[in-house]
Amino acid sequence: MNIPLIDLQAQYDSIKTEVKIAVDSVMESQHFIMGSYVKEFEKEVGEYCGSDFAFGCASGSDALLLALMAIDLKPGDYVITSPFTFFATAGAIARLGAIPIFIDIEADSFNLDPIKVKAFLEGKAKLSKRINPDPQKIKAIIPVHLYGQMADMDPILELADEFNLKVIEDAAQSIGSKYKGIQAGNLSDFGCFSFFPSKNLGAYGDAGLITVKDKELADKVNILRLHGAKPKYHHKYVGINSRLDAIQAAILSVKLKYLDGWSSSRKSIADDYNHLFLKSGIASKDLSDTNAILLPNETTGTEKNGGRHIYHQYTICVKDRDGLQKWLKERGIGTSIYYPVPLHIQECFSELNYSPEDCPVSLKVSQQALSLPIYPELNQDQIEYVVSSICDFYNT
Ligand SMILES: Cc1ncc(COP(=O)(O)O)c(C=O)c1O
Repeated sequence: MNIPLIDLQAQYDSIKTEVKIAVDSVMESQHFIMGSYVKEFEKEVGEYCGSDFAFGCASGSDALLLALMAIDLKPGDYVITSPFTFFATAGAIARLGAIPIFIDIEADSFNLDPIKVKAFLEGKAKLSKRINPDPQKIKAIIPVHLYGQMADMDPILELADEFNLKVIEDAAQSIGSKYKGIQAGNLSDFGCFSFFPSKNLGAYGDAGLITVKDKELADKVNILRLHGAKPKYHHKYVGINSRLDAIQAAILSVKLKYLDGWSSSRKSIADDYNHLFLKSGIASKDLSDTNAILLPNETTGTEKNGGRHIYHQYTICVKDRDGLQKWLKERGIGTSIYYPVPLHIQECFSELNYSPEDCPVSLKVSQQALSLPIYPELNQDQIEYVVSSICDFYNT
């Protein structure tokens, strides 16, 4: 069997006719920048996310950058975030000359740990020598809803309130996820989404979206993405060129209708994986001394109590992760490591003098995490083959 990590072709085959009509209609309109297709998608996706202000932009990375620009983040300011995320989360902070404060993650959700954030903000936990900011210079927190599961937002929002920080949700992997009944991106000041092709809602190229709670900040984001100009050629801010292409918007409008169905299929695949791993006896709560695997947890709730994990990734933690990955590759099974090097020890941040032990959980998970194939079209035989191949690795 050959099972890729993700099968975009299978999804495309199922919506090809509609996508071709949508692309063709943009071509016939010859209107490629902003315009009605972008407006229409922004309206639909804003409604989907429960947000009054939703602006398309060129990528999830730009959505983060725009949010930080909108709050006037300056060189020398600080922003708290997770080290266990895609680089763009911290890259946006550093690009503005600001400094990322990496606080460790929870072991079971892989998301920013509010207890550790609190300890840091209250001065009870120290990080590298270089990260000893004047509290006035800490401007924001960026929780990341990793793998499609929400970070624990209530305590994060409470801390933001207490310490006067803006909150920017990195919802790149979590469109449609919920926390206590509220959609990702809609709990805080900003929600930043990516439509990178492999995301649950993927464009056919780069694309992104930013949602904004406050009307004034929304107006500012809307202008910043258009070179800071309003009206055209009158520049209120030094903005950037970050627009959502009309072709991508038309494609995304087609795909948005299917998103909830696709995310539900991912959830039922995750349930099947869980069930089969538990039945096989290989799942454990502890990797200390057995050939066991840790399954993902729904830490911020199930649908019954208003939570929703959309399983952008189904990620297990294992011992001998690299050995298992090689074994699965030999059996035609695609996997991926998100992420092999946590951000606090990336070369580009070496000047910040973080020690690996500043974020021990991130460090450990970066050595153990393995994401398995998950996409709506994955069938039962394929799921069983993945599980039995993993069991064989540990039983041989
Ligand atoms: C957590 C996270 N943040 C930010 C991004 C950046 O999004 P994009 O690739 O659309 O720039 C991604 C996507 O790759 C991501 O996974």
